[in-house]
Amino acid sequence: MKGLILSGGKGTRLRPLTFTQAKQLVPVANKPVLFYGIEALKEAGIKEIAIIVGDTKDDIQGAVGNGDQWGIRISYIEQDEPLGLAHAVMISEDFLGKEPFVMYLGDNILKNGIKSLVEDFRKKKPNSQILLTEVPNPQIFGVAELKDGKVVRLVEKPKEPMSNLALVGVYMFDFHVFEAVKAIKPSWRNELEITDAIQYLVDQGYEVQPHIVKDWWKDTGKIEDILDANRLILESIENKNEGFVDKYSKINGQVVLEKDVHVERSIIRGPSIIGEGCNIVDSYIGPFSSIQKNCRIINSEIECSIVMEDSEIRDVGSRIDESLIGRGASIARCPPKPSVYRFIVGDKSKIEIK
Ligand code: G1P
Repeated sequence: MKGLILSGGKGTRLRPLTFTQAKQLVPVANKPVLFYGIEALKEAGIKEIAIIVGDTKDDIQGAVGNGDQWGIRISYIEQDEPLGLAHAVMISEDFLGKEPFVMYLGDNILKNGIKSLVEDFRKKKPNSQILLTEVPNPQIFGVAELKDGKVVRLVEKPKEPMSNLALVGVYMFDFHVFEAVKAIKPSWRNELEITDAIQYLVDQGYEVQPHIVKDWWKDTGKIEDILDANRLILESIENKNEGFVDKYSKINGQVVLEKDVHVERSIIRGPSIIGEGCNIVDSYIGPFSSIQKNCRIINSEIECSIVMEDSEIRDVGSRIDESLIGRGASIARCPPKPSVYRFIVGDKSKIEIK
């Protein structure tokens, strides 16, 4: 079996981060979202993966490389314009050939990976297997309607959802999907929808096997979802301390301190992860915080947040909570007089002050 990971898209809902970075490279528990997908495919025994890339091709390729870091083969297929998930399948026919494959949307994370689901697909050999999960807001996803355990209807982002079963961004197909993606027409948003391609398979009498996912699943398309995924991943991290902690500091719960982390007169409460080369001084780092490498947190408090590499937080008077701070950012207290706020913030940034 082969793997196809979709890693194009503009990530407009993650601005301003995505002005300068691919959405699939935003870190969750200090690891790019995309790596969770690659690792899930590898764990399912897939050794050959192609990644569909768009405008952010260079960044993705720079971070992922040829797959050596996972001991698998990774190549790239360029999609010049975001013409839809089914279009991505269409342009991958040469790579996929007649082999069955897993299509994985590069901004999705599933708690327990996909190993058992892929095994199931390999054993039963349906033409397609789709993953569904109950959600409170189905209208923002592809939605499936089942009858007697069989898929009867699929609609992409329906205004009036027929059920609360959303399509998870992981699909398995055999080569019949190529017939489907060539037969369908673009949707109202001018994309060839994979949801319509699966409906075609159903209508033509091909076997589409549904599987309901009970564990958590996250599509990290929005900031809240990234923070949520961060929280969920951190829940299962294990202690590791490769840094230095002075005798005035306290580390509680599950905390990862990477190499060359320096903690002075601070409290760190897990689950949280502090990346290589960070300095934490006179500060409090609360649960569900991921601090990427080479950050400096001085005389400040932060909780339930992601701070990306090379950032500095200094002398901030109140606790920072549920925040996502981009690379090389600086948040600091102004001199006491004049009593003002001073901002240099990029487009589409969001700042909330009390
Ligand atoms: C895509 C699919 C949708 C699916 C979702 C899962 O939506 O079109 O059917 O439910 O991924 O992440 P998009 O992220 O393109 O809005």
